[in-house]
Amino acid sequence: MLKIIKYTAQNHQNLTQFMEGLQDYLVSIDTFEKLKRDKNYGKKYVKYLLKIIKEDKGIILLAEFDNKIIGCVAGIIETLDKGEILGNKKKLKTARILELYVEPEYRGKHIAVKLITEITKHFKAKKCEQLRLEVYAPNNNAHNFYLSQGFKNESIDLMKKI
Ligand SMILES: CC(C)(COP(=O)(O)OP(=O)(O)OC[C@H]1O[C@@H](n2cnc3c(N)ncnc32)[C@H](O)[C@@H]1OP(=O)(O)O)[C@@H](O)C(=O)NCCC(=O)NCCS
Repeated sequence: MLKIIKYTAQNHQNLTQFMEGLQDYLVSIDTFEKLKRDKNYGKKYVKYLLKIIKEDKGIILLAEFDNKIIGCVAGIIETLDKGEILGNKKKLKTARILELYVEPEYRGKHIAVKLITEITKHFKAKKCEQLRLEVYAPNNNAHNFYLSQGFKNESIDLMKKI
């Protein structure tokens, strides 16, 4: 049976492996050839992630299936952005998804849907009015997943090598 549980320190190794799996995946699809994955990436990144989760009232949820941890979602509550501070945008309490990962052999079974549903409930209970996230352009799978879950493209970040 699938259960969504809150991250605790005993799942540190799972989270580290997931972040390495995610980064390896992004490197494998990186048509811009900008990303890399250092040997200690997982350890370093999880340290940073846990710090911002703590500072920014965030949460990490894990998907557990038959006593095995198979995926995760991490998100934070954002402070106001520049537009909101300058008054040219409505002030909306915003949550941001930072990471989402499902182990390859468990994909296509609506595990990510369940993770997103639960983290959405969490942030709604915290009075957040919108949920945001960024997708790396070559990551069509994730982009399509988010579109299928009701997210809409809002701004587009462009770059050219100079
Ligand atoms: C993106 C990811 C989290 C999706 O997880 P998942 O558990 O396989 O997704 P789900 O089974 O919940 O997908 C639900 C719906 O999303 C859509 N979807 C999911 N993957 C898709 C894909 N590759 N292409 C198109 N649509 C997709 C489908 O509509 C699907 O519903 P359906 O199966 O009824 O058609 C998973 O592929 C993953 O971990 N990828 C690598 C890490 C990553 O890219 N993370 C996101 C970083 S921003």
